[in-house]
Amino acid sequence: MAVVQVLVGSVYGGALLTAKAIRDQSGSGKHQFVVHETPDLSALTTTEGPVLVCTSTTGQGEVPENLLNFYIQLRDQLPMQQGRPFGIIVLGDSSYGDTFCGAGALMEEAFYEVAAHKVGETLCIDAMETTEPESLALPWVEEWLDQVSQETLQAG
Ligand SMILES: Cc1cc2nc3c(=O)[nH]c(=O)nc-3n(C[C@H](O)[C@H](O)[C@H](O)COP(=O)(O)O)c2cc1C
Repeated sequence: MAVVQVLVGSVYGGALLTAKAIRDQSGSGKHQFVVHETPDLSALTTTEGPVLVCTSTTGQGEVPENLLNFYIQLRDQLPMQQGRPFGIIVLGDSSYGDTFCGAGALMEEAFYEVAAHKVGETLCIDAMETTEPESLALPWVEEWLDQVSQETLQAG
């Protein structure tokens, strides 16, 4: 049983609804999800286990306001998270071109800087293609959880 810390970045609520759908519908009762709607660094430093970022992209490829504080603290304070598993779900809109899903890339970089270990490919959800991000996120999370469990077992 893993407790997954879910860090949310959302402007209009789509990523937040997705995170709540994950909390309520994923993990087949074997895993728990704690949703941080306005995360600060303690969401990381006072917990252990897997971390799932679920954020949208705003501005020109930027992290939403409610996740920005966490992002800045992470980059400034660099609390090392050696080998800690993390995954990224990012909402964006491909009509933004080069900045498509940019917030996911920023979060990934920040987690790499503290030596966390990425599990799975980033799930990038395009608003041009779906209005139901959770329909893509829920199956992705099941696979991600499987991968996290396998890697945790292998690591002993
Ligand atoms: C002002 C604004 C700026 C945006 N900038 C980007 C962007 O740079 N890249 C991108 O991929 N999506 C961008 N988006 C699209 C949002 O990320 C997308 O609509 C997402 O589904 C919104 O999720 P939310 O409801 O959680 O905020 C932008 C949307 C708005 C309204």
